[in-house]
Amino acid sequence: MKAIDGYTRTCGLIGNPVEHTLSPLIQNMLAELTDQKLCYVPLRVEEGQLEAAVKGAYALNFLGTNVTVPYKSDVIPFLQEIDPLAAKIGAVNTLVRMEGGFRGYNTDMPGLYRALCADGVRIEGEKVLVLGAGGVARAVAVLLAEKGAAGVILLNRTLEKAQRIACEVNAMAGKELVSAMEYGDYTKLPEGERYLAIQATSVGMHPHDDEVVLADKAFYQKLHTGYDLIFNPARTRFMELVEEQGGRAMNGAKMLLYQGVIAYELWTGSSVSDEYANRVYAAMEETWR
Ligand code: ATR
Repeated sequence: MKAIDGYTRTCGLIGNPVEHTLSPLIQNMLAELTDQKLCYVPLRVEEGQLEAAVKGAYALNFLGTNVTVPYKSDVIPFLQEIDPLAAKIGAVNTLVRMEGGFRGYNTDMPGLYRALCADGVRIEGEKVLVLGAGGVARAVAVLLAEKGAAGVILLNRTLEKAQRIACEVNAMAGKELVSAMEYGDYTKLPEGERYLAIQATSVGMHPHDDEVVLADKAFYQKLHTGYDLIFNPARTRFMELVEEQGGRAMNGAKMLLYQGVIAYELWTGSSVSDEYANRVYAAMEETWR
């Protein structure tokens, strides 16, 4: 890192817990590579202290912060402005300093999009399956609608939750783009069609490495690509099942990288080259060895 001096700008990660985050590695390495006087620190915020933390970060002249679990939605009332995509998603993971407060963005979903693009996975004109119907799956459905997917099918254990998200996103999109089904109903998908599937539940996350929401081989035969938003373990059971049936499988590590890259670009007004992004990714991979 460049030596910290009186001109160094501060950014940080608001969340709880924050101890296992990779964001300081990502952001401080980007600052070093791009020769910026910027320092990024973890900011553990206890329950009930979020408003004080956001106001305090502003008062302390923070350039911006990231926001993580459990505050991505709770932070919204404390923003000066919210970016329209973040408002649609209902979750903010990046605060950028502006006159009078912070403007809130969601860089998780643009990060996912950039990760998909980097891996040559198309969304425009594609029919996409999303596994899950929590906050993350909802955000993915909003992204897919924004990026011109031809159709989105939400598969979930609890059908009503998937139906509710489908209604909300269809209302936003102004068309019947998203539909809902239970996992077992994948058998009703048309024969011969192959899909991109995005795994947006927490099932299979370490230490539950062997778990998966749907284990039928026949489901995985319907996929050309499987994208798991989980990055720990690096190869999930979902990814193994995709690959066993001949599909391409990716994990969520590049989404994590690019959500950080986009946040950094928002704070600094610069654009991060592919070369630098790849160098940060290599450093992230080192930590998982
Ligand atoms: P997040 O906001 O991170 O998306 P969430 O709102 O708790 O988290 O959503 C978790 C998702 O994982 C849901 O789709 C949930 O399914 P239900 O809506 O049926 O609860 C899914 N999920 C969690 N544990 C599961 C399990 N053991 N089997 C299948 N789905 C599971």
